[in-house]
Amino acid sequence: MQVVIVPTPEEVGRIAAAKVAMAVRTRPDAVLGVATGSSPLAIYRELARRAETGQLDFSRVRAFALDEYVGLPLDHPQSYHSVIRHEVVEPLGMRPALVHVPDGAAADLPRACEDYERAIRDAGGVDVQILGIGANGHIGFNEPTSSFASRTRIKTLAPTTRADNARFFESPDDVPTHCLTQGLATILDARQLVLVAQGEAKAEAVARMVEGPVSSMCPGSALQLHPDATVVVDEAAASRLELADYYRYTYDHLPDWQRYDGRDG
Ligand code: GLP
Repeated sequence: MQVVIVPTPEEVGRIAAAKVAMAVRTRPDAVLGVATGSSPLAIYRELARRAETGQLDFSRVRAFALDEYVGLPLDHPQSYHSVIRHEVVEPLGMRPALVHVPDGAAADLPRACEDYERAIRDAGGVDVQILGIGANGHIGFNEPTSSFASRTRIKTLAPTTRADNARFFESPDDVPTHCLTQGLATILDARQLVLVAQGEAKAEAVARMVEGPVSSMCPGSALQLHPDATVVVDEAAASRLELADYYRYTYDHLPDWQRYDGRDG
């Protein structure tokens, strides 16, 4: 795992976006794994800037979202269908038909989950998976004690996650109780993982993910099992990392061929 510590939340977005940009440049029909939440917004802003200035073309890029609420109509403003459309598809100039979100409104939810897994496989798998992390260590909506062997399935949201996400809804009671989420094994299948976190509220989860034991109590710790995982955090989110100085040293001494600091545009 590579840990990159940068001064500001914006810089987190710029560095992580450089990783995604590299994948899209290498493969114009790359398959991205896209996350919702506030953490990756800085990545999407930076990618949108590059798309607007003609440095990147997302018209052939395919994408799979991590998760979706169960029971919200697709056009509900807080459904991840809507969120991904407004925050990713439109600003980046992606083709909506190439972007997939689990169907939380399906009559047969287990079937929708199986279909989603198949669609990812048929696309050849995810090249770069963008991730945030919940304060309780969840990735996607894989709450603590999620199996490391899990695939896309129905999950019950932890009360703390519902409370964290209540800010997006009119009333806390409006937050759905269930979701569909890619499993931890689905996420680990992606060829590259890029997780971003900003702010003090994420510091504990980041420390447990990077330096804690690999444990389903912290689903993010699954990243320790992945051969190509990058964690980009600002100083506040890095504040509880025991080996922070070592990560800074390592990043400062990266060989040229491993650099991706976004200065290429
Ligand atoms: C959400 C999403 C996750 C996200 C996490 C943190 O509920 N399902 O994919 O990483 O919780 O969200 P935020 O980035 O807003 O803190």
